Amino acid sequence: MKERERVIVAGVLGVLLLAWLGFLVHRSPRFAGSGVGAVFGIAGAVLMLVPLAYPTVKRIPFLNARITPHVSLQSLMTLHVYAGILGPLLGIIHTGHKYDSWLGITLTAAMLLVVVSGFIGRYLLSFVNREIKDKLLLLQTARGDLDSAWGVLENSPVEMRGLPKAPLLAAGLASLGLGLSAGGPAGEVTRLAESVADLEYAVRTHELLKRWCRRWLKLHLVLSVLLYVLLALHIWAGIHFGLRWFS
Ligand code: HEM
Repeated sequence: MKERERVIVAGVLGVLLLAWLGFLVHRSPRFAGSGVGAVFGIAGAVLMLVPLAYPTVKRIPFLNARITPHVSLQSLMTLHVYAGILGPLLGIIHTGHKYDSWLGITLTAAMLLVVVSGFIGRYLLSFVNREIKDKLLLLQTARGDLDSAWGVLENSPVEMRGLPKAPLLAAGLASLGLGLSAGGPAGEVTRLAESVADLEYAVRTHELLKRWCRRWLKLHLVLSVLLYVLLALHIWAGIHFGLRWFS
């Protein structure tokens, strides 16, 4: 289910980014203020309010107790994702690629960054967690194999001489795919030690990416607050200056 959601959301995200890049080739300054443009804007703003349901129900115990027996947090999260990506898509269409004011540009940037950070937080984080789990399992097996291969080698002083005399050089060559490892128990120990080192490196890189992903989620929250402030300002300006037209 989550895999299907990931594919759909990735597709819509692609369309959203392409639609935004449309400003390079297209510009319709009067569209946002037209009747159809306003419908897109209002629908987009309403859809952008829907994602608030998830954090509100999740964090307010009173609402959580009343709503989650009928609608699970998981369903609210799915709604959060779909409304959170369709709203900005309608918002981009509403702009007609007219990016003239600082408010319009910042609002569009905040909107896109909220979606991108949400995407990274939701899908990249679980992907990285899965990778770390798989790599740790492999590492455990490789360390066990290395221990037993080392045990065999320790009992055979003749074979010990087969170990590389310059381990750093051997490791450097191995990283370039130029292994000079000998056969027998010494070669086996060298190969397993290389695998353990590679896996440890991969786990550390993924841990780093995971820490970054956590920061992305904090960014997601800060950017969404900014988005709502800018959206409120934009709507206020629309009503204020729009109504002046009629007076
Ligand atoms: C208008 C668009 C969106 C807004 C305003 C928005 C806003 C928020 C807010 C306020 C939170 C709560 C953070 C917290 O409670 O700490 C949140 C959480 C989250 N959002 Fe969004 N979001 C939007 C779109 C998206 C999209 C498109 C995705 C994914 C593709 C997404 C994924 C997430 C995830 C994974 C969480 C964390 C859930 C958790 O761990 O409990 N969001 N979002």
